[in-house]
Amino acid sequence: MHTHTEEMEDMLVAASSRTRRTRMTERHRRLVRETTLAPSNFILPLFAVEAAANYRKPIPSMPGVEQLGIDGILEQCEAALEAKLGGIILFGIPEQKDEFGSEAYNDRGVIQNAIREIKQRFPDLLVATDVCLCEYTEHGHCGVIERNRNGEIEIVNDKTVELLVREAVSHAEAGSDLICPSDMMDGRIGAIREALDFSGFASLPIMSYSAKYASGLYGPFRDAAGSTPQFGDRRSHQMDVANSDEALRLVQRDIEEGADIIMVKPAISSLDIIRRIREQFLVPTAAYQVSGEYSMIKAVGANDWIDEKRVMMESLLSIKRAGASIILTYFALEASKEL
Ligand code: PBG
Ligand code: ZN
Repeated sequence: MHTHTEEMEDMLVAASSRTRRTRMTERHRRLVRETTLAPSNFILPLFAVEAAANYRKPIPSMPGVEQLGIDGILEQCEAALEAKLGGIILFGIPEQKDEFGSEAYNDRGVIQNAIREIKQRFPDLLVATDVCLCEYTEHGHCGVIERNRNGEIEIVNDKTVELLVREAVSHAEAGSDLICPSDMMDGRIGAIREALDFSGFASLPIMSYSAKYASGLYGPFRDAAGSTPQFGDRRSHQMDVANSDEALRLVQRDIEEGADIIMVKPAISSLDIIRRIREQFLVPTAAYQVSGEYSMIKAVGANDWIDEKRVMMESLLSIKRAGASIILTYFALEASKEL
């Protein structure tokens, strides 16, 4: 037989462990929900091809994504504006590639032309532009390559930074709203910041791919952008997946050099990194849900092995919950329809 006080104690324990009360109905779940997604969190990546205006080519390894001539790019921009997305980010696929990626900093290049057309038609759309050389070099590397004293081919840092600076300034002159260096060379943020300031773009922000891992998840993107390195890999500049403290050092360095927004990439395999950055730095943090992350969900969804829409939303919510307020994602338009 329980005494009166023992019964009360049992009840108190039970009361505090009844956590399901706030999960019982959608009315209650809505009330206590900690994280929400909005279309303004999303940036849609687009692949602009230097080709006929009506050019379109589906990317087999990225169902639903296409390489587009300017007509298709403008259509996607209109859809992005209607969906109230945060913006778009442009990647360029030039007709001509060469040793130094000169189309990347050609004022009449594919990206520069696309930016001007978009800004003319949709001045209110945020147009971000990726700054790297790998889509523009014939060898597919992110910078200038040379043979070092040991006879090994390497990407030379400072010569590459000079070209990246030219690319960034030419994007700015064409009307880019956000300069996004993805190359991972040392000193590029400081050099680009200085050149932008000097050229009259002191108020143009930089979103730096600060912690970009050397990941197998970029495979489909390299099909889309035609930027697969012809030999070697990107491990001499992109980060080792094994490291975490190093990501924080790179973020700190980029903030010191003038980055306004920092980015982590890939997203789902770096949730711990996103969280550590959020806890340590008070700077807007973006995550790139990369091509391989997108294609994995699409491929499994196409087999009906998972509920594709549900996993899409779950992945985006997890990225936001980890601490990224900006998400670059090929799902941007699809996900906005679910909100
Ligand atoms: C260019 C760049 C890449 C991505 C964004 N910018 C490819 C790479 O580093 O090889 C990957 C994006 C994706 O996989 O969706 N440096
Ligand atoms: Zn690159």
